[in-house]
Amino acid sequence: MTSCFEDIVWQANPGARDTRANNASTEAFSSDRVRDVRKFHRSIPGYRPTPLADLAGLADYLDVGAIWVKDESYRFDLNAFKVLGASYALCQSLQAKLQCDRIPLGAGIRQPAGVRAQLAKITCVTATDGNHGRAVAWGAEQIGCHAVVFMPTGSSPARLENIRRHGAEASIIDGNFDDAVRLAAERAEQNGWLLIQDTARPDYTQIPERIMQGYLTLFDEAFEQIGGREPTHVFIQCGVGSLAASLQAFLLQRFGSRRPMLVTVEPTRAACFYESIAAGDGSAHTVTGGLDTIMAGLACGKPSSLAWNILRDYGDLFVSCPDRAAARGMRVLGNPLPGDRRIISGESGAVTLGLVYEIATDPANHRLRDRLGLNESSRILLFSTEGDTDPQMYRSIVWGDWSPATD
Ligand SMILES: Cc1ncc(COP(=O)(O)O)c(C=O)c1O
Repeated sequence: MTSCFEDIVWQANPGARDTRANNASTEAFSSDRVRDVRKFHRSIPGYRPTPLADLAGLADYLDVGAIWVKDESYRFDLNAFKVLGASYALCQSLQAKLQCDRIPLGAGIRQPAGVRAQLAKITCVTATDGNHGRAVAWGAEQIGCHAVVFMPTGSSPARLENIRRHGAEASIIDGNFDDAVRLAAERAEQNGWLLIQDTARPDYTQIPERIMQGYLTLFDEAFEQIGGREPTHVFIQCGVGSLAASLQAFLLQRFGSRRPMLVTVEPTRAACFYESIAAGDGSAHTVTGGLDTIMAGLACGKPSSLAWNILRDYGDLFVSCPDRAAARGMRVLGNPLPGDRRIISGESGAVTLGLVYEIATDPANHRLRDRLGLNESSRILLFSTEGDTDPQMYRSIVWGDWSPATD
């Protein structure tokens, strides 16, 4: 069980800016790819960029130059960013499988008759804490194929129902997230199903890479919305690491050595990237056990191999963060200072803001603050990656009867 006395702990990556030590390729995230991916998402009916909130009041309060928060609760009525990756990977993979130029995606779009019949015979399978599975189910429903989704023990009934609502066969297994990933891979192998998973391993990289490429739209929108005032610091949540590594690759491709500092944030009991960097042997390490945290989307014990290669080489700083920071972030974002926009942010969405708040206000974090060089000229970019994807939990945290367990 998570203890309320757990600290924020961190590890800087000494090799992050050493061009001789860095060899992971980020070519797959080039500006041409950004254009392609954005064009794909623009073709989906209902696409529009999600809002970017400029929290000037909070920035003033915390004595920093700017805080921008991209609000993914507005993403295609799905309440989370995940659909950007799943939709792109699903369409690219089905196009390759059926050898057709384009499989359009969107409510009410009818595929050509021949393609429709082939799609109806295809089953996609995945494992999820909620958001990715919902995104795969949504995509499969719109395209006209089947989806099977496995969730770990302890998954929220609300998140399970949100997946079933899109016609997927979804179930909660006896095991943690990494067990669910293994089960999905086994079923894909046994039944000839299409595995749409965001965790890469050495023999399964193409689809995870497409998912990571799909996230480029999110970053491209954010930098377009910010305009010329580029951030100095970017904080990003980390589960299997696909989102964070995609962002790191985007920043490298766009800004090279002038890129902002990238800080990954994970829950204390599922901090596999933090533990891997701290081990210092260049290898990814797995965290086992119940991966107990309120940040369901980040409760992953095994780093994606593609994500690890990129973050190991370029990620600046890795933070392991207790649940209370996520709760703090949800409360602050949901109750803004005058003039700031209100953001409904779920447990995994709000942790980065909660962390920034704690770094800025708690003297116990002064070493981390100094290491980051956070001061009144810092411009901070954050991503609220989900809204209230479990509304009951959201209320319990924001209205007050949730508190971190004490043992
Ligand atoms: C809301 C939310 N934020 C962040 C993440 C982290 O993404 P990744 O697993 O690619 O690290 C997830 C993953 O499910 C999520 O659901």
